[in-house]
Amino acid sequence: MAKPNKTILKWAGSKVRIIEQLRPHLPKARRLVEPFAGSCAVMMNTDYERYLIADVNQDLIDMYLVIARDPDTIYSIGFEKLILSIQNDSKTYYGTRDAFNKRHKSKYDQAWFFLYLNRLCYNGLCRYNKKGEFNVPYGKYKNPYFPEKEIISFIDRAKNADIVCLEWQDTLSLVDFDDGVYCDPPYMGSGFTQYHTAGFSDADHEALAIALKDINDIQGNSITVSNSPEATELYADLGFTIHEIDAPRTISAKGNRKPAKEIIAVLEGVK
Ligand SMILES: C[S@@+](CC[C@H](N)C(=O)[O-])C[C@H]1O[C@@H](n2cnc3c(N)ncnc32)[C@H](O)[C@@H]1O
Repeated sequence: MAKPNKTILKWAGSKVRIIEQLRPHLPKARRLVEPFAGSCAVMMNTDYERYLIADVNQDLIDMYLVIARDPDTIYSIGFEKLILSIQNDSKTYYGTRDAFNKRHKSKYDQAWFFLYLNRLCYNGLCRYNKKGEFNVPYGKYKNPYFPEKEIISFIDRAKNADIVCLEWQDTLSLVDFDDGVYCDPPYMGSGFTQYHTAGFSDADHEALAIALKDINDIQGNSITVSNSPEATELYADLGFTIHEIDAPRTISAKGNRKPAKEIIAVLEGVK
């Protein structure tokens, strides 16, 4: 089996490692709507005609927009120069983090800082303090990877994507009748709620599950959701079919790298 395509960013909850288990459960549709797109692992590994890529993290979406909508800037600077500018020492890392948090630079610089921080920070985490400042420490990697191949293939795939920074409720309001929806929120009970300053509570999980059920009832869209086994009852009670899978961990707060159970909850669409 061919290896899955990797993503530009390291991302907690990335679906790269479980893409083959997820693929058969993804909606069959012309366009896939992804309200929690994160590293875009699903877009990088599927062939829908169109995508609506959304996430609440403004830094993430701004980086995608710079890469997808202005690739000439990247090509004109040249990957070699970009690679050489990855200075892997703690002084440069913390200096870049400070510059990023001042938010005085151009969108291009901010995008580049975000990618640099992601590749050099501890465990590829994306965490902010209450003031909205990125606060992940230096990761001390010997050979940080520069995702040149992934940037090139993202540029290509993003030609078929609309990319927006939205809360999930606003993204769901853009779902058309024949769209498929794939939701991958921060997992229930995972502790990984700090992708941006607000967390994702049990009440948010319940509101999301009910909103997805409503869309399926009213518009007939196919819906697929990833979550932890803690969410099984919530989705099963709403009539979703639950599939349990073993997922290798990518990033774990406590260094636990044993496979973890996950669920894929599915509501079939109206054909
Ligand atoms: C589990 S990750 C998604 C991972 C993604 N499927 C991948 O393969 O990389 C969850 C994502 O939800 C986003 N998120 C958290 N709260 C959100 C909200 N209220 N609305 C939209 N996106 C949100 C986070 O920024 C994060 O990127």
